[in-house]
Amino acid sequence: MEKQQGLRYHEFGKAESVLRLESLPVPEPEAGAVRLRLLAATINPSDYGRMDGRYGSLPELPAVAGREGVGVVESLGAGVEGVKCGQRVRFCDNEAWQEYACLPSDRLMPVPDEVSTEQAAMAFINPPTAYCLLRQFVGLEPGDWIVQNAGNSAVGLAVIQMAKALGIHTLNQVRREELVEPLIALGADQVVLEDSGWERSVGDLTDGKPLRLALNSVGGASAMAQLKALGDGGTQVTFGGMTGEAVRFPTRYLIFSDVRLAGFWWDQYCRKSGRAAVEKVMHAVFGMLAEGSLHLPIAGRYSFSDYKGALAHDQRPRLGKILFIP
Ligand SMILES: NC(=O)c1ccc[n+]([C@@H]2O[C@H](COP(=O)([O-])OP(=O)(O)OC[C@H]3O[C@@H](n4cnc5c(N)ncnc54)[C@H](OP(=O)(O)O)[C@@H]3O)[C@@H](O)[C@H]2O)c1
Repeated sequence: MEKQQGLRYHEFGKAESVLRLESLPVPEPEAGAVRLRLLAATINPSDYGRMDGRYGSLPELPAVAGREGVGVVESLGAGVEGVKCGQRVRFCDNEAWQEYACLPSDRLMPVPDEVSTEQAAMAFINPPTAYCLLRQFVGLEPGDWIVQNAGNSAVGLAVIQMAKALGIHTLNQVRREELVEPLIALGADQVVLEDSGWERSVGDLTDGKPLRLALNSVGGASAMAQLKALGDGGTQVTFGGMTGEAVRFPTRYLIFSDVRLAGFWWDQYCRKSGRAAVEKVMHAVFGMLAEGSLHLPIAGRYSFSDYKGALAHDQRPRLGKILFIP
């Protein structure tokens, strides 16, 4: 039997301890399915969440890690029609860190020719999340201001670029001074350092305009600063918790400022909204990637054999994603 490399875990725990490079069988496509060969896969925070056993959905063990990647159709099972070998598509959405996988042909999500393989490998989780965060909670108008933390994350960079295209101003919280310039170059209107007390003089940053939406993927003090800075009737959407610290809110912001708190999970959006809605969002994301109004940087490329180097790089300060290129 032909063998392939894959990154698999047999128990939940820290990625550095539980992830192993294994030799796995290359699967044969059953009737109605196709075999895909991985071209590029991305490392995301939710990969650690699943390996840790702390994510919103968990696999049966042992499990191949990775949630996002792009592959090419390599062979067709019996009865598959309307799919061509050589077509690039999303690789399987929950076992992406392996060289080959099979998927039912009716679940394939094609990648347009105009979008590069590496940009496509980063297109399926963070950009659609940014797209939904900007559209689903507040009816934003050109000239409005929003705030987000982790401004240099992939979601953050997508929010900056999409907001700019819509004429919406972004105030971005980051942890490192050296991020200010690159974020401004991408289209950010303001970039502030966490713990600098920016929220006390927010009006100076926004020309006196209220912040209508706060996007929180950090938690703790960073989320609290957003709540203090939000305008009356503003909405804070929590979609990540990088610090692991709770979002705390003094009751006064809910009572006197009528602040609204909400949450978002792209996986749940996909489950609840159905394929047509997801395709619509992906169509918009691919359109922006194709025309170049959205571009996500890459901080490093690694083979599966050097997965320890990839994880170590991912956990260092960076601007851009870490990709696995088999
Ligand atoms: N709910 C959803 O559907 C959904 C979808 C996509 C992403 N997300 C969430 O969105 C967030 C960003 O994901 P991503 O893939 O865009 O991230 P990413 O590109 O991997 O970047 C990670 C970001 O997290 C920041 N960070 C790491 N540890 C931190 C800490 N202890 N305190 C504050 N900031 C910290 C990093 O800042 P430094 O550079 O300063 O380290 C960086 O901005 C994650 O929480 C992820 O789970 C949620």
